[in-house]
Amino acid sequence: MSGAFDRWYDTAGVRAGTRRMFADETDQGKVFYPQDQVPYLAHEALGCLTDEQRRVLTIRHLYQFLLSTTHLETRVVNTTAERIANNRAGFDLPNQARMDAFKVYCDEGYHALYSLDLADQIAADTGVAIPPWDFGGFVDRLEEVGARLMPDEPSLVPLLQTVVFETLITAVLNEIPNDRTVMTVVRDLTRDHAKDEGHHHRFFAGFFHDLWVNLEPRLHEPVAHTLPAMVQACLTWDTEPIRASLLMSGVDGGTAAAVVADTYERSGSNADICRATVRTFRSAGVLDVPGAEEAFAAHQLL
Ligand SMILES: [Fe+2]
Ligand SMILES: [Fe+2]
Repeated sequence: MSGAFDRWYDTAGVRAGTRRMFADETDQGKVFYPQDQVPYLAHEALGCLTDEQRRVLTIRHLYQFLLSTTHLETRVVNTTAERIANNRAGFDLPNQARMDAFKVYCDEGYHALYSLDLADQIAADTGVAIPPWDFGGFVDRLEEVGARLMPDEPSLVPLLQTVVFETLITAVLNEIPNDRTVMTVVRDLTRDHAKDEGHHHRFFAGFFHDLWVNLEPRLHEPVAHTLPAMVQACLTWDTEPIRASLLMSGVDGGTAAAVVADTYERSGSNADICRATVRTFRSAGVLDVPGAEEAFAAHQLL
């Protein structure tokens, strides 16, 4: 696990980053979020929406991305980071790993702060309010998956969820900074975040190897069968805020529900986005467990 944070004091966002300030670039044709990642905008039933309605929907989509990530990082990741840092993860860890976990803890707190800060700046400038919704539906669903598949392991499940999320998020965040159609501030903030998350990815991949080695052998099979469902849950958007956003933009209830169903209920292959996560599990030996390869394939992760 060592090495992931060798230069943390000099390079971490919370130590050396700058506060990103919103500047609206709508008049230069820039969008708040990549349009191919707001897939419902292309639905034929929404063909009559104006450019301004699309802009507002995209702003609320960005809010959802920023704030649901914040919920996950502060409620799930930092809960696990605290357990590692205070040596309560279930197996003994060296002080170096414990200090690294505190670095994760600091980073995630700062990511949460600047995510809300950007949403707040955009709301103030554009007049598009941050809706008073629960952006933690995503966390609830992840917790349900863990509780359903491993009901007798309430302390292990959050550790697995954290490894899954922290090895996936870098790939998700890496898509936006290179997208020239997106506003500069969104690209810069996402690049800042992705940079820190690259280190977290390395840390949690190492942590998972230690966790797997120290796991009671009877748990290898249930864990190997639970991980693919957790990966899939992590890659599935919470559609309730999307439905509510459509209603807010004047789309009628029936159309909003149909658009969400058409857009999100068919799940395609996630093999590209989860490649690094699956590689972590494979190198630890998870896919050598009987039936694991089939379980990952059944969730379209290979
Ligand atoms: Fe983060
Ligand atoms: Fe992280």
